[in-house]
Amino acid sequence: MADNKKALLPEGTKVPVHIGIIMDGNGRWAKKRMLPRKLGHREGAQTFRTITRHAKLLGVRYVTVYAFSTENWRRPVDEVEALMDLFEKYLDEVNDFVDEHIRVCFIGDRSMLRRSLRDKMESVEKSSEHFDSMTLLIAINYGGRDEVVHAAKKLAERVKKGELSPEDIDEKALNDSLYTAELAGDIAPDVDLIIRPSGEQRLSNFMIWQAAYAEYYFTNILWPDFKPADLEAAIIEYSDRNRRFGGV
Ligand code: FPP
Repeated sequence: MADNKKALLPEGTKVPVHIGIIMDGNGRWAKKRMLPRKLGHREGAQTFRTITRHAKLLGVRYVTVYAFSTENWRRPVDEVEALMDLFEKYLDEVNDFVDEHIRVCFIGDRSMLRRSLRDKMESVEKSSEHFDSMTLLIAINYGGRDEVVHAAKKLAERVKKGELSPEDIDEKALNDSLYTAELAGDIAPDVDLIIRPSGEQRLSNFMIWQAAYAEYYFTNILWPDFKPADLEAAIIEYSDRNRRFGGV
């Protein structure tokens, strides 16, 4: 594995611990080919598999992908259904990841998802719980603001029960109440690098708390066309940046 890394990235490259990916541009990819949007998502799901595996090969410890936002319900019903079907289909095939010892977790509000999908999510989480080569977080019905509200409610509940006093609410307490802290036995660290393909340059409510000091990498490539070499280019650019975290 170390040898592979050496061959793929220049000597001394700093690999981010946690990468977030906004998988954007599936619709435009399909439109360019006069195909239905759902075929763009299908192609995007293939890219997701390839890139996740490649991230593991490069030594990335956490990858979070934005698969469905709290705002995506505004899309046409048939597109939403196609995405939910795609998630279920993927979860049926998740053994590929199990073979690679990748832990799979989900972040977001599950209460609005169909029962069959929720059951599969839980089962994948359970069957991959003990893997530690890399953790893959899939954000479904996820919104950064919704996550902060969820954390605030959890803290309020604890205050109400007398387990916590308001003075004890600090950044750590809030951080430890986010969806990214609800992975049994683990808390995903802040995201180091956020990759957004397709030419858009915004965060779109993705990990707004965890991205406080993230570096951003934007590219015009549409997500279904994003290749392992593009991931390497993003990591190399990240490695060349000087992160100061507010210091000098
Ligand atoms: C944004 O592109 C993409 C999405 C809302 C869906 C992302 C989902 C996948 C890539 C499938 C991943 C599968 C699994 C199993 C996690 P867009 O449709 O907004 O593209 P556009 O801006 O070109 O219209």
